[in-house]
Amino acid sequence: MNVLGLSGSPRLGGNTEQLLYEVMRGAKNRGAETRIIEVAELDISGCTHCDYCRRTGECKINDDMRLVYEALHWADRIVVASPLHFMSVTSQLKAAIDRCQCLWVKKYEMKLPPLEPAKPRKGLFISVGGRRVPNLFDPARVTVKALFTVLDIEYAGELLFTGVDEAGAITSVTGALKQAFEAGEKLVE
Ligand SMILES: Cc1cc2nc3c(=O)[nH]c(=O)nc-3n(C[C@H](O)[C@H](O)[C@H](O)COP(=O)(O)O)c2cc1C
Repeated sequence: MNVLGLSGSPRLGGNTEQLLYEVMRGAKNRGAETRIIEVAELDISGCTHCDYCRRTGECKINDDMRLVYEALHWADRIVVASPLHFMSVTSQLKAAIDRCQCLWVKKYEMKLPPLEPAKPRKGLFISVGGRRVPNLFDPARVTVKALFTVLDIEYAGELLFTGVDEAGAITSVTGALKQAFEAGEKLVE
């Protein structure tokens, strides 16, 4: 079982990444092969809406997004990890999500599987936010769910923590890293 972690935070080793590492450790503990892509470290430009993909099913922009496409095809489980930035996923991750428009075209216009081989894929959403208010993750969740729907990935769960702001603050949230480890184990069962 192949597990891909897409890390959206520009703060390497920050709160969401620490949770992601634990999820991956849990998945590995159950025999999975894991790979993390730090999206903010890559050169991924936004979708230009050139409509090239509507004719070909492929994106014309030649940048690091090809690594993400390749990994999405490879993965059986996809973990999207992003802190909240202005109530959504980070702009770096959003650029990568928007570049999945060619996969939207494949699925809805070309009637092809968005990812090949087509297989039962499951996804997990990890996020943290500095604020402590109800429904904090609703807007980001909508975006991640939209991505998963387009890519035929079942939304299998989420790990969301409010009130987590300073780098490393997640380590002070009782049980958070343990929950993440267990979520990783469960994801690949
Ligand atoms: C540009 C920016 C925007 C942010 N917007 C929000 C927000 O809308 N809501 C919130 O709760 N926290 C917000 N935060 C706080 C981060 O979500 C928080 O610091 C988080 O712990 C960072 O996680 P990381 O260490 O994984 O990068 C924002 C931080 C930055 C830098």
